Amino acid sequence: MSTLFFQIQSTLIVLLMFYGVYHRTNRYKHVKTMKTCIIWDLILIVQIELTRGAIAQASNPIENNTILNIHIALALSTVLLYFMMFYTGKKVIAGHAKYRKKHKVLGLTTLTLRLSTFITSFLVL
Ligand code: HEM
Repeated sequence: MSTLFFQIQSTLIVLLMFYGVYHRTNRYKHVKTMKTCIIWDLILIVQIELTRGAIAQASNPIENNTILNIHIALALSTVLLYFMMFYTGKKVIAGHAKYRKKHKVLGLTTLTLRLSTFITSFLVL
């Protein structure tokens, strides 16, 4: 039951993320949407942790199978990139134009990693 609930949230987050990137030139809409995605995704991780002790499971790479380890690595990288997206996005808002290219490259990487996390989450069910 909780798995379905998590997968539904995850699907909505990924869709919302694509929506936010589609509206990347509408600064107000983009920033609001992306902040919602990031916060919601972090809340989802807390929910998964509270119901399954996911961090304890994830910290045992020897017992985990390859696809689960790949999934964990993708999820962790995505969270790290979220902080970088937040930082570079704030810099762009503050008028530091040189961060725009960085934000774009990191943004496309974040999108790819979040989508890969989503796909691999079905393979570890
Ligand atoms: C996973 C999260 C995010 C992704 C994937 C993402 C992706 C992108 C992309 C691809 C662009 C277009 C860059 C260009 O064409 O030069 C962009 C623009 C921008 N992003 Fe983000 N972004 C994310 C989060 C954020 C956050 C959290 C903020 C603010 C705190 C932010 C602020 C901006 C701003 C200000 C722009 C320029 C918009 C404009 O044209 O006025 N982004 N983002």
